[in-house]
Amino acid sequence: MAVFSTFPLHFFLLIGLIFTPSIAIAQKTPTSSFRPKALVLPLTQDSATGQYMTQLSQRTPLVPLKLTVDLGGQFLWVDCEQNYKSSSYRPAKCRSAVCNLANSKACGECNDGPKPGCNNNTCSLFPDNSVTRTSTIGELATDVVAVQSTDGMNPGRVVSAPRVVFTCGSTFLLEGLAKRVKGMAGLGRGPIGLPSQLAAAFSFPRKFAICPGSNGVIFFGESPYVFLPGRDVSKNLTYTPLFINPVSTAGSFFQGEKSVEYFIGVKSIKVGEKTLSINSTLLKIDSEGNGGTKISTVVPYTVLETSIYKALTKAFAQAFSGVPRVPKVAPFEVCFNSTSLGSTRVGPPAPVIDLVLQNPSVFWRIFGSNSYVQVKKNVLCLGFVDGGLNPRTSIVIGRRQIEDNLLQFDIARSRLGFSSTLLFQQTTCSNFNFTSNA
Ligand SMILES: *[C@@H]1O[C@H](CO)[C@@H](O)[C@H](O)[C@H]1NC(C)=O
Ligand SMILES: *[C@@H]1O[C@H](CO)[C@@H](O)[C@H](O)[C@H]1NC(C)=O
Ligand SMILES: *[C@@H]1O[C@H](CO)[C@@H](O)[C@H](O)[C@H]1NC(C)=O
Ligand SMILES: *[C@@H]1O[C@H](CO)[C@@H](O)[C@H](O)[C@H]1NC(C)=O
Ligand SMILES: *[C@@H]1O[C@H](CO)[C@@H](O)[C@H](O)[C@H]1NC(C)=O
Repeated sequence: MAVFSTFPLHFFLLIGLIFTPSIAIAQKTPTSSFRPKALVLPLTQDSATGQYMTQLSQRTPLVPLKLTVDLGGQFLWVDCEQNYKSSSYRPAKCRSAVCNLANSKACGECNDGPKPGCNNNTCSLFPDNSVTRTSTIGELATDVVAVQSTDGMNPGRVVSAPRVVFTCGSTFLLEGLAKRVKGMAGLGRGPIGLPSQLAAAFSFPRKFAICPGSNGVIFFGESPYVFLPGRDVSKNLTYTPLFINPVSTAGSFFQGEKSVEYFIGVKSIKVGEKTLSINSTLLKIDSEGNGGTKISTVVPYTVLETSIYKALTKAFAQAFSGVPRVPKVAPFEVCFNSTSLGSTRVGPPAPVIDLVLQNPSVFWRIFGSNSYVQVKKNVLCLGFVDGGLNPRTSIVIGRRQIEDNLLQFDIARSRLGFSSTLLFQQTTCSNFNFTSNA
């Protein structure tokens, strides 16, 4: 119990013993008396690749790191081969609590060390570049991570977690990621996903929210989530259960591992209030982990299994048959001249697309602001793509469809809170006030 001695007693009673002490404890740092209720990270979009990026600080002394955000990624991985210098780097010793927590069964030696990423008698995992679908093996380690706290309205003081578990990637694994990015921030639901680790380090609930936009934001911990002019978006969310895919969807994994990605239970799809006729088997996750619906930040547009894709594009075109079409622009099929469309508060007019969830009254409604992609001047196309006949997952909701939507992932309660487009609430994800009041 000595490890808890830095905490006031009432705090100790409140949190109980649910955390792994070796990783969960915020040590005596200059900020040790301050306990944030939530943390905030910026989320920007790289114009060349479209990837969502964030920035946090790691190591001693702290180094700011740009990372590609991977909503379904298993953990934080960074390139340890170039310029990794830190006095607080600790490789995870085989059979240690860190290896256990990470469920790493690989134990190894390394000949050209010792150095970060190369030490003897350490356990390893498989960092994934989910953009290029490349993975490698890398040493598991811990180091300091520093992030700004928040009251939900502004960023506050910087707080640090002394032992955040991550995996060492290699320089080649960065290929295909945005320029100047040094790794990926995995926000998956597993025990070493960033959300669970930050929650454990600062004793707040295992929940986080992402709000993607040109200057978007990620919150870890408790709401409110306030966007100018004073809209607390957390008060106006619709909830749906999250499902666990029993088979890992990672590039490499140990047999028996579950997926850490976020799956929701889409039961049917409506276009312009009419239900599409689709094979409902495709919407369920089977025992081999095929089928179902997940949310991803690594695909640019929502990807649909072929028969679902065909039903959606046909229904969309039919519902909008009065509007003249223009020649299609690959990979899209239904395109319009935007000058003949006009505009509304929630983007260009479009038949609404509803992802119907646990019951008919719960649906995620997609408006024109999230259904179209501008492919060139005056040309807007329905921004969904064909995923082929036997994709692993039937529906992968991509970046275009979640822009300016706030999504709250409550891992502890296994539910997703979603806002639909924030334009209806007269705000956007770029309206978080990043002016620090620390
Ligand atoms: C690991 O051990 C091997 C032999 O047991 C040794 O040759 C090598 O230098 C060691 N590597 C490190 C990083 O300590
Ligand atoms: C529905 O999809 C499943 C899974 O791909 C397939 O096995 C089944 O034959 C399909 N049913 C129909 C009626 O097309
Ligand atoms: C769209 O419509 C405008 C006005 O009718 C026309 O000038 C323009 O050439 C059209 N663009 C395309 C790509 O069809
Ligand atoms: C809550 O969200 C709905 C749907 O997005 C919107 O129509 C409504 O105006 C919002 N309410 C408030 C108080 O912002
Ligand atoms: C943003 O936050 C800062 C610090 O709290 C405050 O001074 C400023 O007025 C806010 N900006 C707006 C537009 O409300």
